[in-house]
Amino acid sequence: MTTAIVGVGNIGSAVARHLVAGGESVVLTAKDESRVQALAKELGPLARAASVEDAISGADAVLLAVWLDTMRELIPAYANLLTGKVVIDPSNPIGFDASGQMMRTLPEGESSGSVVVALLPAGTHYVKAFGTLGADALAASANRDPLAVLFYATDDEAAEKTIERLIRAAGFEPWKAGGVATAGRIEAPGGDLHQYGFNGEVVDIDRARSATAGSGT
Ligand SMILES: NC(=O)c1ccc[n+]([C@@H]2O[C@H](COP(=O)([O-])OP(=O)(O)OC[C@H]3O[C@@H](n4cnc5c(N)ncnc54)[C@H](OP(=O)(O)O)[C@@H]3O)[C@@H](O)[C@H]2O)c1
Repeated sequence: MTTAIVGVGNIGSAVARHLVAGGESVVLTAKDESRVQALAKELGPLARAASVEDAISGADAVLLAVWLDTMRELIPAYANLLTGKVVIDPSNPIGFDASGQMMRTLPEGESSGSVVVALLPAGTHYVKAFGTLGADALAASANRDPLAVLFYATDDEAAEKTIERLIRAAGFEPWKAGGVATAGRIEAPGGDLHQYGFNGEVVDIDRARSATAGSGT
């Protein structure tokens, strides 16, 4: 199995490092080729650099580690290549105002996940994941004892199987928050199952289980 990682910024590079450390093959892509090539070289034989087109074409799963606004351009441009793939969406509806203050970019109650699902072509296997921790915490929390939880949300069986494998390979405990309708719970700002919803705490499976008890997971 190969996972394409589109975007090698804070989230994409952290996930790439964890997946390779866990034995997964990754193909990396972004706009800045030199950054992609440097990361691929650093990660060794399980990683390679490619164009966005080649990365998506050759992958089974595609992590879109880019901002929501970039997805609005990328997904329509590569829609035919995404069909049939597991598409992993870490996006949060977060932006920054002129003074650098963090702000919500979508109306209250509208999840970034629902926007991404609406952009995707039929036949993709969508899962929201890898966005429930801040990038520094994600980079620093793999293979802890007890394992740190990464929540995910999906309605799709193939996507669920794939994300469970990838989260475990990355050195975390997967925990399903629910279907896509629950995506807002694992997004920030506002999601109770996002790291910010736990006041910055990186939770383990006991905390995750009690936080989702009674919500049908
Ligand atoms: N940062 C966090 O703490 C955090 C936490 C949870 C979730 N998230 C979510 O994760 C996503 C990524 O965040 P980030 O902080 O990792 O962003 P980032 O550091 O700004 O990285 C964005 C990446 O997207 C790439 N990119 C931009 N336009 C592209 C295009 N047209 N084609 C291919 N690649 C393109 C950039 O490549 P170039 O550098 O080559 O332009 C860069 O590698 C966002 O949706 C965010 O909401 C972030």
